Amino acid sequence: MQALLVESLSPDLSGVHLADLPMPTCGPGQVLVRIKAASLNFPDLLMTKGEYQFKPPVPFISGLEFSGEVLEADPASGFIPGDLVMGGQKTGAFAEYAAVEARSLRKVPQGLDCSTAAALGAAYGTAYTALVELGGIQPGQWVLVHGATGGVGLAAADLAKALGAKVIAASGSASKLEALKASCHPDAVLLAEGRFREQVAEITDGKLCDLVCDPVGGDIFDESTRCVAFGGKLLVVGFAGGRIPEISVNIPLIKGFSVVGVRAGEYARRFPERGRVISAAVDALASSGKLHPHIDRTLPLSRWREAFDAMGGRGIVGKIVLVPGS
Ligand SMILES: NC(=O)c1ccc[n+]([C@@H]2O[C@H](COP(=O)([O-])OP(=O)(O)OC[C@H]3O[C@@H](n4cnc5c(N)ncnc54)[C@H](OP(=O)(O)O)[C@@H]3O)[C@@H](O)[C@H]2O)c1
Repeated sequence: MQALLVESLSPDLSGVHLADLPMPTCGPGQVLVRIKAASLNFPDLLMTKGEYQFKPPVPFISGLEFSGEVLEADPASGFIPGDLVMGGQKTGAFAEYAAVEARSLRKVPQGLDCSTAAALGAAYGTAYTALVELGGIQPGQWVLVHGATGGVGLAAADLAKALGAKVIAASGSASKLEALKASCHPDAVLLAEGRFREQVAEITDGKLCDLVCDPVGGDIFDESTRCVAFGGKLLVVGFAGGRIPEISVNIPLIKGFSVVGVRAGEYARRFPERGRVISAAVDALASSGKLHPHIDRTLPLSRWREAFDAMGGRGIVGKIVLVPGS
């Protein structure tokens, strides 16, 4: 089968190439899936460089998230051939077939096609864990979402709108603000550069934000500590900007806000019952048409480099979907 193999870690994707590999076999507790669509997530890029917290031994097949059709399943798995499923196990999604643990899969929500399902799970699961489970979002609250053109950010902005919050969608790229308006219909967009606290104060009539969702880090995080309302939460989701910021703890004390670490996958593994509740809630919202996963473009797996370069170069609004076997 065709698969995207990370043969060695490299800063420039030089250790990554398409390879012909043996078809995987379905072991006990596993499900064999013919992958129809896989979506690119920032950790996929980091893993090719060895810069993600999870460091699989090389060689490994890239890709943490896919959807597809069950070909074979352990009878105890709860799946049968023909089921459409979505999920993944951190690696192995950018391939024609994958044999994965049944617990890493769930059925594609009713009404969704496989491409949309592949773009839904990780981004919206992370957004839901951050905003609802850990953030306690309420209708009418002001929510500032950074990196809102990205997979997690756009999902967070879309979800917050669906839950009745007032959303400021922020991007560091002026050229993407119009696309951002069209893709998640926020209450306001913000060019997040320099000192943006005064703009946030103006937009919110001086209230500032109950929740700030930050997948970018660095200077964005630093300035965001000035944008959280008393009693609010600054949700630390990631560091797409590259710098892990630091904070003096007197700042959240004086300003009365919490800094909350979000680790969605680990949260679901440690609290599997909560993980199931989160997935079910995301799926129900998606099936009822309240969520709008935004696919920037769909590419054959053979054009994987274009996808990875676009993500590294901040040239995406939403998600890129890769289709194997094409
Ligand atoms: N905590 C968790 O559970 C969890 C789960 C999934 C992902 N993450 C993390 O969340 C972050 C975002 O992931 P994602 O999949 O949403 O990535 P993504 O689709 O590439 O989005 C990241 C966004 O960050 C912005 N950005 C600002 N500076 C950037 C830079 N130097 N390089 C790249 N992007 C930059 C970009 O928006 P503009 O160009 O519009 O500014 C971009 O759209 C990553 O750090 C990822 O590891 C965390």
